Amino acid sequence: MDKTRVTRRAAMQGMAGAVMATALPVHSFAMQTSKSGLALWPEAVADAPQRLQPFNDNWRFHRGDAEGAETAGFDHSSWRVLDVPHDWSIEDLPPGGVAADAIWTDGTTPTRNGPFDRYESAGGNATGWTVGGVGWYRKTFARPENVAAGGKVELRFEGVYMNSDVWINGVHLGNHPYGYTEFAYDLTSHLKDGENAVAIRANNSGRNSRWYSGSGIYRKVWLNSSGELRVPHYGVSITTPEVAADRALVNVAVTIESGAATTRHAAVWVRLMDGTTAVAEGNRAVIVQSGASQMAMCALQVRNPRLWSPNDPQLYRAEVAIVADGKVADSTSLTVGVRKVEIDAVNGLRINGESFKMRGGCVHHDNGPLGSACIPRAEERRVEKLKANGYNAIRTSHNPPSRDFLDACDRLGMMVMDEAFDCWEIAKNPDDYHLYFDEWWKRDLESMVLRDRNHPSVVLWSIGNEIDERAVPRGVELGTQMRDYVHQLEPTRKVTAAISGPWDHPNLTWEDMQPAFAYLDVGGYNYKLSQYEPDHAKYPERVIVGTETFPAEVYKDWQVIDRSSWVIGDFVWTAIDYMGEAGTGRTSIRNGERRPGAGGPAASGAPWFNAYCGDIDLVGNKKAASYFRDVVWRRSAIEMAVQRPLPKGYTEAPAQWGWSDELRSWTWPGYEGALLAVRVYTRAGQVKLLLNGKEVGSKGLTEQDGAKAEFIVPYAPGELKAVAYQDGREVASIVFATAGAAHSLVLTADRPKLKASRDDLSYIMAMVVDQAGRPVPDAVVPVTFTIRGVGEIAAVGNGNPKDLSSFRQPHKETFHGQCVVVVRPNGGAGTVEVRAQSAGLEEAAIALNVSA
Ligand code: GAL
Repeated sequence: MDKTRVTRRAAMQGMAGAVMATALPVHSFAMQTSKSGLALWPEAVADAPQRLQPFNDNWRFHRGDAEGAETAGFDHSSWRVLDVPHDWSIEDLPPGGVAADAIWTDGTTPTRNGPFDRYESAGGNATGWTVGGVGWYRKTFARPENVAAGGKVELRFEGVYMNSDVWINGVHLGNHPYGYTEFAYDLTSHLKDGENAVAIRANNSGRNSRWYSGSGIYRKVWLNSSGELRVPHYGVSITTPEVAADRALVNVAVTIESGAATTRHAAVWVRLMDGTTAVAEGNRAVIVQSGASQMAMCALQVRNPRLWSPNDPQLYRAEVAIVADGKVADSTSLTVGVRKVEIDAVNGLRINGESFKMRGGCVHHDNGPLGSACIPRAEERRVEKLKANGYNAIRTSHNPPSRDFLDACDRLGMMVMDEAFDCWEIAKNPDDYHLYFDEWWKRDLESMVLRDRNHPSVVLWSIGNEIDERAVPRGVELGTQMRDYVHQLEPTRKVTAAISGPWDHPNLTWEDMQPAFAYLDVGGYNYKLSQYEPDHAKYPERVIVGTETFPAEVYKDWQVIDRSSWVIGDFVWTAIDYMGEAGTGRTSIRNGERRPGAGGPAASGAPWFNAYCGDIDLVGNKKAASYFRDVVWRRSAIEMAVQRPLPKGYTEAPAQWGWSDELRSWTWPGYEGALLAVRVYTRAGQVKLLLNGKEVGSKGLTEQDGAKAEFIVPYAPGELKAVAYQDGREVASIVFATAGAAHSLVLTADRPKLKASRDDLSYIMAMVVDQAGRPVPDAVVPVTFTIRGVGEIAAVGNGNPKDLSSFRQPHKETFHGQCVVVVRPNGGAGTVEVRAQSAGLEEAAIALNVSA
């Protein structure tokens, strides 16, 4: 192996890790090895002080501005005590607001309810009628012990929405505008004996977002105290430049930062752990000048590596230690996935030599009823849901996700397109990131790339979404600068951006958008399926990915993707419902005129609060589009759905991002004799439909049918069965049976056993069933939850995009027969009992086990 080459590349990565402007000298001393060939790992690592401490509990919070709250001695005793992650925009507003009026209401919804307010929401429809504004957080703490001379104490925020100012003991540490990148402040010189006070002002004012952002310290906070020799933030970079079945090279580049008064000799030790077994080790001696940083690179050879791939996401752990004077001065560890990603127009996307298509979905960052509060289990659950529904890729539209989200993607085998921005210099909203772009883009890109570069799940960087200036000379200049900067920070991955047609510039054509592709390694196409093949003919070397596509086009999309090596995949808008952009996926019904409340001008505004264009609804339940996708992706041979009966004379008009209002239901009481549209989804050649054993329709399917067969059937209760045939042979069938009247509630917990940790959650679904225990698919009943034991109700919710009620009060209506209560451990071990009641129905109870 060419050591010089590796060392030079590592030097570049180390430079990035240390965020230094000048080149660092690289020492490449020989590795010390024991007789057995493996280096001896410094025993003391396990005893090294835990330098990264959670800083999440016992905050004081005030919603609104507070004069003087930055000062050291400010009295915050009347403020609410809470722990972060926290999102004030999802909490109930105090009673009040402007009196109800006809524009907002559909006759039932007041102008202010739960977190929603028609008039106080600056973002309006875009943020789902939620309210931002200003909020303050304060916390007092003792100076961390054992911070020796030359040591460092840092406060690290994983994300504050937005425009945060931070003070320590009354001293302003800085301002961080972007709500989605992490940042840190050096507290060392400001700390005193006794009590120290940190104050944060988050300012989510004005129209700054096109979707629900949430407000406040919505991701975690850490206090990091280290000694005079330490690994700085983002100080480790791991790459896997050589990957084969029998061996892999894992390069671990470690930066050592010194606060020591004199030049220090130290050693960096690295080992790669497979569970509790070290499979490779290495170390390097370093000399670090006072106040400087030094990078050391350990090249680890791994025999017969277990490779990471979306289908089999194998992970290792790298442990890193700095040893000086025979002691462990600092240590850290991080997850490693050994994989090789290759992308080109001839072979498409390959991971470890195997071809993959990105079966992708766009997702925003909110956790539905929890708002944007980034609770690790909520983040993991979203990834789990997508994985369980056939996805292997996520586009984190349109901003960097949380650390927990990416950790879950690593563990579960989800490829990630990690996206930086929704705008550059030109605004999409008057108060959005365009105000900060020129001053901050470099720092924010750096924060994203350096934080996320070690995640095996991240396979592509995206520098923007539907950027206004994407194809004009200034945009090309910026795009080129950004691409080059990303490559400089992290040379192993390709850069893309989502390029839309010129809908925002009606006088231009698709051809006018072409300059944008010059600065992209991978061409991201938003809603431009029609251009994939013509563009390929013109630009055969271009790799194309569908960065956004319409849910209803999924069949057509995959016809093209499956036959085109140069299209590496597709990301539907969206995989999961999200708050804000209310009514993007609405389905109106009309009879010439629009019907108030179900469509019309207000449909994209009140009373909707969620976009409703996802495969999965806001609480994690599967929607009709997802069942159709299962057929397109060959995960299911047959599916069926029935369109909700329409009032006489009405037709249905789903929005471009929408889907017919259809359900997996043959329970439509009151519609006996009415003609219902039954849709059977299959790739088979022939479908028969039987109602109560009698054939009511039969159809042959060709390519043109796009895997859909529609039958119009007079409704009669009983059993509706669809059977699919291929070449005369039955290949699959599906049955819906009419349910009886709502009789009881049933509770099902996704996690009956919980850890006694604020990071864990159990989502308990309350379902309405008939006397025989069959789900009543469209039941709407009010449910009240009560809880006892070592947990709290963190949220309640349902999938209804128009239910503008509280997420915090223990009541919710069912939607499609279900609603959810999210239980969060309060920290102690024991049990939690949850009870669900609805007048006239048999109640239900469930017990959860919470252990330390
Ligand atoms: C796209 C945009 C997305 C979302 C979507 C649906 O053009 O990139 O962020 O707004 O439309 O409205």
